[in-house]
Amino acid sequence: MTTTERYEKLYPEFEQAGQGHVFRYWEELTEPEQKQLLERVSGMDLDELAALVQVHVRGNGDAKKNFDKLEPAPYIALPQGEEDTKRWEEATRVGSEAIRAGRVAAFTVAGGQGTRLGYDGPKGTFPVTPITGKSLFQVFAEKIARTAERFDTRIHWFLLTSEINNDATMAAFKDNNYFGLKKDEIHFIVQGLVPAVDVNGKILMEDRSTPAMTPDGHGGSLRALVRSGATGHMKELGIDCISYFQVDNPLIPCIDPAFIGFHLLGKSECSSKMVPKAYALEKVGHFCVQNGKTVVIEYSDLPEHLQEQTLEDGSLRFVAGSVAIHVFDRAFIERLGDAETSSTLPFHRANKKIPFVDEQGNRVEPDSPNGVKFEMFVFDALPLARNPVIIEGARGENFSPVKNAEGVDSPKTCKQDQLRMFARWMKKAGTDVACDESGLPGVEFEISPRFAADLDDFVVQWRKREPKPGIEDGVVLENS
Ligand code: UTP
Repeated sequence: MTTTERYEKLYPEFEQAGQGHVFRYWEELTEPEQKQLLERVSGMDLDELAALVQVHVRGNGDAKKNFDKLEPAPYIALPQGEEDTKRWEEATRVGSEAIRAGRVAAFTVAGGQGTRLGYDGPKGTFPVTPITGKSLFQVFAEKIARTAERFDTRIHWFLLTSEINNDATMAAFKDNNYFGLKKDEIHFIVQGLVPAVDVNGKILMEDRSTPAMTPDGHGGSLRALVRSGATGHMKELGIDCISYFQVDNPLIPCIDPAFIGFHLLGKSECSSKMVPKAYALEKVGHFCVQNGKTVVIEYSDLPEHLQEQTLEDGSLRFVAGSVAIHVFDRAFIERLGDAETSSTLPFHRANKKIPFVDEQGNRVEPDSPNGVKFEMFVFDALPLARNPVIIEGARGENFSPVKNAEGVDSPKTCKQDQLRMFARWMKKAGTDVACDESGLPGVEFEISPRFAADLDDFVVQWRKREPKPGIEDGVVLENS
């Protein structure tokens, strides 16, 4: 089809959907610009957009929140006594068997824009470790490689990118020789983009030939896995457990045997890790049960009196914080991502400052939110899952994200949390490292994920390491 023929086909569709202004500058565009515009709008789902505008821009979206009969979600706590320990050991055994059998894949969502960190490049290339400054991707790659080695298996790694960062992400992997992994065991999946609209539901134009598009949220990862054919590929490879984590969290044990074991033992379609909230109003989602369904209620939605509510012993009633760590059953994702099913994830509205060109063709950089973007959240899969399982994870062993350039959840706090974790691992393995009252060691050292991928692994590895190096500033424990 020629450019003109494509335009003549698409323009009426956009006009009919009330979005004809996307072609406002058509006559003034150069031919390459015209082609570019056609390229950008041709895959747009105008029906989906119309429905989103109807609900979230014209209507009052998901504003009608009702917290009647909200209960805290039950979870499997960390082991306290002998019985618990046996239960966790059994889960670890079952999970380990599944890993060894090649049934488990790692899945990192890395399609976000990382605006808060303000780093130029895919977030996964951000350096995080205290001594060697390994990037987030390098840390995950090494944990995956070590886990595969430990269980004498192959672990495929799926990564969600978006059109905005896919090329740069793939280039980073190539430039770093796939961080030591086999190229054919790494799979990039590009998530969908959704147009951003103004307060009247009209698609905003970044420039005369570029509609403003944003990734469809981490919840979009599930349909992207299906649409890209990744779930089909997983099926061929015999993978049925998908270990989901975010790109900004280097503490994550990418593949956690106990977590996988509990997921399998519970015949769960979607399992989650909770960490106890650090304080009542901590800005995390809350695992709850509503009308018999497990849900995550965001801190911004849960009334403060419920966030602060305590039990008789003074502990928080809604204590289970969501930290975006899940195990998914592959068939469940296939069901969710199937276009015919009614159980797709809902979209949410976020008001954002979105630069745009006005009717006169001038670029405007708004200083307050002028537009709406639409995102799906992965935890909205929970109420759709059969037998959801939630287990407790120790925060220090699971979660310290790099979100902001400074302050909470910044490179500095993440580095300190890695140091605390390394010191704790040492202590558990019988070697004391002097720490302050927050657990921060007095020396800066690093444990390579190639040496040990998690605490259990470290204890075994450290005991085997002879002679043991002294733990002092700058020491890096590599695999020998
Ligand atoms: P965040 O909610 O922290 O968003 O994403 P972000 O885009 O990384 O950062 P800000 O808000 O712009 O500062 C949590 C995780 O979900 C992924 C991110 O890459 C991160 O791993 N994500 C988010 C996606 O993969 N796609 C999206 O559309 C949004």
